[in-house]
Amino acid sequence: MSSANDIYILAIESSCDDTAAAVLHNDRVLSNVVSNQEIHRAYGGVVPELASRAHQQNIVPVVHQALQQANIDKKHLNAIAFTQGPGLMGSLLVGASFAKSLSLGLHIPLITVHHMQAHILAHFIDDPQQKKPEFPFIALTISGGHTQIVLVNSYFDMKVLGETIDDAVGEAFDKSAKMLGLEYPGGPLIDRLAQLGNPNAYNFPKPKVDPLNFSFSGLKTAILYFIESEQKKDPEFLSKELNNVCASIQKTIVEYIMEKLNNAVIQTGINRIAIGGGVSANSGIRKALNQAQKSLGWTTYIPNFKYCTDNAAMIGIVGYFKYINGEQSDYRVVAKSKMTF
Ligand code: KG4
Ligand code: ZN
Repeated sequence: MSSANDIYILAIESSCDDTAAAVLHNDRVLSNVVSNQEIHRAYGGVVPELASRAHQQNIVPVVHQALQQANIDKKHLNAIAFTQGPGLMGSLLVGASFAKSLSLGLHIPLITVHHMQAHILAHFIDDPQQKKPEFPFIALTISGGHTQIVLVNSYFDMKVLGETIDDAVGEAFDKSAKMLGLEYPGGPLIDRLAQLGNPNAYNFPKPKVDPLNFSFSGLKTAILYFIESEQKKDPEFLSKELNNVCASIQKTIVEYIMEKLNNAVIQTGINRIAIGGGVSANSGIRKALNQAQKSLGWTTYIPNFKYCTDNAAMIGIVGYFKYINGEQSDYRVVAKSKMTF
């Protein structure tokens, strides 16, 4: 039996194209299973209808595996946490319905989790290799689905300071990669080729919006026109210059992100920066953040990569904090494709 200091949470994440389940013992992760949906690769992006169907197929085996790896019997769970939103509606519905049924079947509380809050609170998963951010701090979440700068005053007091007004950073990487003929998701490929090229070879514009907001649609158009015009002059342009083009695109995006972070630091007077989301794997961003630690005195926090990309352990840590706060949900709760903090 578990005591008040001995909480077991099963967490489920299904907001986009990863079906994920995790079991946490308090703030410690016992298992963290993610089933990536390979089917979208052939389409060059996530196809919502196919994502929902794949979640439907994956959810039972993924939950089963998470329980098995954690070596926990269902009857020892204290609560079920699941992603309520934001995300793709069809995908969220699979996780929400499954979580409700399991919670009802096991007679244990159901806890809703905000996906973006979870990306931020992933920094508080017990991990001996990572230090936890001190409040208040600034969180930057950058992935294929989101780009936000958030002021985090405490676990549940968060304020969005800025966000993208069009594409997410990961989308900017992926769409640029597609124009360069690279496979989806192209972000990691651009990163790899960028390291072989000259970042100053070409100049791309940085869209001008509010100091803490982002816009990437102008950059996308600029890259498209640039490639078209260069290929008219030399049909072999891309094969000759691919590394330099990748390096120049990456440099533009990284500089843009760093400018926005710098604006946030100046505006808030807070120089503790915690990043999350799949794009935090980018070598250019990591290098720039390390540089800022040295030259600007920032303290930066990057969680283990498995807790940066979409995962259920981050849903579980929020579930744990809510559970010890006595926050649980009733069965009328619905999935939401859009959610504010
Ligand atoms: O967090 P994530 O796994 O899923 C969501 O989108 O929510 O992030 C995936 C995104 C994709 O757009 C992918 O291209 C990008 O993260 N990404 C990268 C790198 N690794 C992943 N972008 C740039 N450089 C990377 N090394
Ligand atoms: Zn995410």
